[in-house]
Amino acid sequence: MATSDQVRLLLIEDVPQVAQYVRGLLISQSAIKILDVFTDGSRAVAQIPELRPDVVIIDALLQGRIKGLQLVKQIQEAGIDVPVIVLTVPQQPVDPDPAKGIHGVLSMPFSGYDLISRVNQVHKEHQHTGDHGASQTIAVFAPKGGVGRTTIAFNLAVATAKVGAKTVLIDGSIQFADLRALLRVPADAPSILDLPTDRVVESDLGEVLWRDPSGIDILLAPPRIEMAEMVTLRDLEKVLSILRRLYDVVIIDMSVALDEINLALLDRADVILELVTYDSTTIHNTIALADTFRVIGYSPAKVQYVVNRADANAGIDPADLTRALGRVPEHLVRSEGAVVVPANNQGVPFVLSNPEAGVSQDVERIAASLLAAGRAPVAAGAR
Ligand SMILES: Nc1ncnc2c1ncn2[C@@H]1O[C@H](COP(=O)(O)OP(=O)(O)OP(=O)(O)O)[C@@H](O)[C@H]1O
Ligand SMILES: [Mg+2]
Repeated sequence: MATSDQVRLLLIEDVPQVAQYVRGLLISQSAIKILDVFTDGSRAVAQIPELRPDVVIIDALLQGRIKGLQLVKQIQEAGIDVPVIVLTVPQQPVDPDPAKGIHGVLSMPFSGYDLISRVNQVHKEHQHTGDHGASQTIAVFAPKGGVGRTTIAFNLAVATAKVGAKTVLIDGSIQFADLRALLRVPADAPSILDLPTDRVVESDLGEVLWRDPSGIDILLAPPRIEMAEMVTLRDLEKVLSILRRLYDVVIIDMSVALDEINLALLDRADVILELVTYDSTTIHNTIALADTFRVIGYSPAKVQYVVNRADANAGIDPADLTRALGRVPEHLVRSEGAVVVPANNQGVPFVLSNPEAGVSQDVERIAASLLAAGRAPVAAGAR
């Protein structure tokens, strides 16, 4: 069908004549459709994930509060997964550099042919990188309960989806099914146990995943505690490998135990986000866990520490925490009960219900950092 093959283009251009020129070049064809023209870059980072263009063209000479190349940088730093073509003039040459978020360049004056072929080219290349498994698996783990794993995993997943990643969240708290409780899904909502054993295929997943209104898909844990033992490592591994092919980001809300299933999930994770809070038991267990990870052979770079409720240090000196971890923790999430608790009670992600709250910004920053790091090897390989 012509419409589903259409490349959806967003143009960010403040000179009406140039926008008109581009429109004119595309008028007698249907392969590329202009979704919108923004004459100002200041709201682009917020609007792009909603509009979901396939390709964005940005004028390097864009004036206003945010200049053209500044906007390119912002889009990249926000982890928005969209190829960008920069429009420029011969007097101000710009080099294409995917590592800097510039996937193509068009220098004025250009023909309709130049425009259409460049847009199609960056679109194709971008789809191609998707096929080659730029997928990232992130295990949200902690050596102690109640430190905020489920809360952070859910909101982090939604934050990655918010900037355009296709994200699935796996409820790895297999006994207690924390996400069922958080999202108040109906008791008969299917779980991982509704997948056929030993021969899970891609098409089975469609009927089993919970499509949350927040924009992510969720693989739920079984509805009853005693059903947990029916989940086999083999099936979980198979499901994970299919999900990694289908999604840009796979996030797992892990349980505390270091059992066979959890070790297998941690092995397969690209990043272990380990939650720490300012209490002595957690810190003690974190040190013990770091030792275990070392014995298993995980590189320290596989783990990123998140200090949750980082401003509630309850008398523990942040320097002591840094000493215990052996490094400065990578991420901090502040404590904001007035935002987190009501959002959790309603089963909604605070990154959507209160996007301007400090705690939401903290989680969005982690999402952007993970997405940017996840793409780096792809960009480097493409050069
Ligand atoms: N940054 C935060 N600010 C305020 N409250 C928070 C924050 N993070 C988590 N909480 C609260 O802490 C409690 C525990 O969070 P959560 O259930 O996500 O932790 P968990 O590690 O998944 O726990 P469990 O061991 O039960 O699986 C919840 O009541 C949640 O609302
Ligand atoms: Mg939990």
